[in-house]
Amino acid sequence: MGAQSAAVACGTLALCLALSAATNPGFVVRITQAGLDYAHQHGIAVLEKELTKVKVPDISGDFRIRHVGKVHYELSRLDLRSFHLPYSRISLLPSLGLQVSISNAFASVDGNWRVKLYFIRDHGSFDLRVENVYIKINLKLGKDSSGKPTISTSDCSTHISKVWVHFSGKLGWLYNLFYRAVEQRFRKILESKVCDMVANSVHTELQPYAQTLPVTSKIDDMVGIDYALVAPPAATAQSLDVDLKGEFYSLAHRSAVPFSPLPLALPPDHDHMVYFGVSSYFLNTASFAYHTAGALVFEITDSMIPKDVEFHLTTSTFSAFIPELEKMYPNTPMKLRLSTPSPPFLSITPEGLSLRPVVDIQAYAILSSDHLAPLFLLSLTGNVSAVINVSSGHIVGNLTMGRMKLSLKHSDVGTFQVRTLQSMMNIYTSSILLPNLNERLGQGFPLPLPDRIKLHNTIVRFQQDSLMLGADVHYEPRARS
Ligand SMILES: *[C@@H]1O[C@H](CO)[C@@H](O)[C@H](O)[C@H]1NC(C)=O
Ligand SMILES: *[C@@H]1O[C@H](CO)[C@@H](O)[C@H](O)[C@H]1NC(C)=O
Ligand SMILES: *[C@@H]1O[C@H](CO)[C@@H](O)[C@H](O)[C@H]1NC(C)=O
Repeated sequence: MGAQSAAVACGTLALCLALSAATNPGFVVRITQAGLDYAHQHGIAVLEKELTKVKVPDISGDFRIRHVGKVHYELSRLDLRSFHLPYSRISLLPSLGLQVSISNAFASVDGNWRVKLYFIRDHGSFDLRVENVYIKINLKLGKDSSGKPTISTSDCSTHISKVWVHFSGKLGWLYNLFYRAVEQRFRKILESKVCDMVANSVHTELQPYAQTLPVTSKIDDMVGIDYALVAPPAATAQSLDVDLKGEFYSLAHRSAVPFSPLPLALPPDHDHMVYFGVSSYFLNTASFAYHTAGALVFEITDSMIPKDVEFHLTTSTFSAFIPELEKMYPNTPMKLRLSTPSPPFLSITPEGLSLRPVVDIQAYAILSSDHLAPLFLLSLTGNVSAVINVSSGHIVGNLTMGRMKLSLKHSDVGTFQVRTLQSMMNIYTSSILLPNLNERLGQGFPLPLPDRIKLHNTIVRFQQDSLMLGADVHYEPRARS
């Protein structure tokens, strides 16, 4: 297919223009401040643990004290026992990324000291409390070549304004004479180590987590969804918006989609943590991909007819309406093959989602297991409406059939009044085809969610050419053994 079919489909000016500028996302994930706050809580808990792993190197040096002489000192085995980050917030830096600011953090450190003054040597332990620690971290978001999100620290600064130390031991008093100098060095070292640890945590924890976003998702044997980022995540004053391709494709042969997404504007809602903007493009590529994969074919045989339906799928039933049938194929089982000559087109309006599928129904007489005789070909057009919901991280749907119209495209069994088959076809489609489709749609299609995320409080809102799903998020931390 590819360019050729695109060119063929490019029948209208609007469509051609759309094809030449295929940059709009088919799917948008919007994370609101409430969503960032929730993510922030979990992030800070991780960072608090990581910061206690900061390794502070030994500190040693000489210090000259007036009237006393040169003191050689050593601080060793510095151990960060705890790091608390009680006040912090995350904010959006429009068009730059995110900023995490932490204030009034505090930590405690203990270790050993050792001094040498002339021939006097002594050692002991100390407790150190670091207070009023301010940390500012800027996070830059991007995308890699596979369309996965990336996250890194673009800037980090730490400022420590108070250090309290208590040296215990016989010569502990000596430290009090020059502890400011030691404190200064300690402060500088800790400030840079904190930022190193932040950068490291972002690199080893946050970035791999962000990359669990499934940018391509094989959803069944035939079709996958492409959720690759089409641009780096964009911070605005209200939200972080992530534009995704949002396109279904046939696994067997992916071909260019002969239509393009319209610009996708989400309403300015912000009550939920996350919103998913789903363009009609996304849903129509589903239809296109399943059609291309040859999956929109459905066969009905007599064994599938529900017990309470009295129309058996045999020529005896149909000969009441098609007189030729009984003469040509007396009392012969039949089969209906339903297929779509073109992918059904879905439209979304503020009232909801609807489609007007055209279905070909080819009837056959089953003469033997490998010999079918074609009887007639009908075309069925109908109005179908759909409800959309979210269940277990999937978009689920359910179709309801409206009025249907039959026409005869071809007959191998003489002329007949198509109208007379209407109620039988209604029953076959509503009691066999529809429940089958609804079962598949009820399993749904996965939303683009990173690992261990569950959605709740979901809402669905329709607007022209797109729908919006809103949800709150629950993150299940990995059980650590
Ligand atoms: C969506 O599903 C929820 C629970 O799963 C249900 O309460 C709600 O009524 C459903 N909404 C629609 C529009 O079917
Ligand atoms: C789906 O729609 C059909 C009517 O077409 C209805 O009978 C069925 O209960 C609906 N199923 C769900 C899960 O809403
Ligand atoms: C489907 O709906 C459209 C407009 O809502 C209407 O014009 C058309 O006749 C309907 N088709 C059938 C088969 O009911």
